[in-house]
Amino acid sequence: MTELSVSILSADLADLGAECRRAMACGATMVHYDVMDGHFVPNITYGAPVLKCLKKAVPEMVYDVHLMISEPARYAPDFASAGADFITFHYEAVPGAVEQTIVSIRETGCRVGMSINPSTSPQAIFPYLDKLDLVLVMGVNPGFGGQTFIPSTVRRVAEVKAECDRRGLSPYIQVDGGVNAVTGPRCAAAGANLLVMGSAFFGAQDPAALAKTIREL
Ligand code: DX5
Ligand code: ZN
Repeated sequence: MTELSVSILSADLADLGAECRRAMACGATMVHYDVMDGHFVPNITYGAPVLKCLKKAVPEMVYDVHLMISEPARYAPDFASAGADFITFHYEAVPGAVEQTIVSIRETGCRVGMSINPSTSPQAIFPYLDKLDLVLVMGVNPGFGGQTFIPSTVRRVAEVKAECDRRGLSPYIQVDGGVNAVTGPRCAAAGANLLVMGSAFFGAQDPAALAKTIREL
């Protein structure tokens, strides 16, 4: 079984509560909450206050917060108090402070994820694998929804999965960006067990059927 985390970046942001309930009714187990700061990535989204309202409106959902920001450790406590369950930061955002960032996020009580951009070698995160609850392999360059999946992502997922198996580790292996009914099955076959879908889900004629296809992978 593969879990689905729905990225609300492509949802109707004026009606977020309803959009999350709709995702949940379709079988999504998590809401993927993309935080962009206009600095680490060239776009700005939403911060902790919006998450706090969303958590209050739909408390039963698991909130998977993806921080595409500089200084993630500085802001992690705000997202934790707002209701985050998982907080994922970018390896590229914290040169020389990876370990420290993991510890800081762990201290908030949230589960810890680390993400790598398409140009970062999967081997870069191997030294930290045993400290992570989630490894996010980006399928696109972060910053925007609706981009085309980068094919080499599949091989990168397989490399992370092989290393996890070799060491007996079982973090979530998540893929985010460009996941749809065609690319999702390829990621799952390579070892991903948590797929993020934004534009494919919210743009689908039949999102429930699409979600079912993903969950049965
Ligand atoms: C990209 C974001 C993704 C994005 C996924 O920077 O991190 O979560 O919303 O959107 P789709 O599924 O449309 O590629
Ligand atoms: Zn994301």
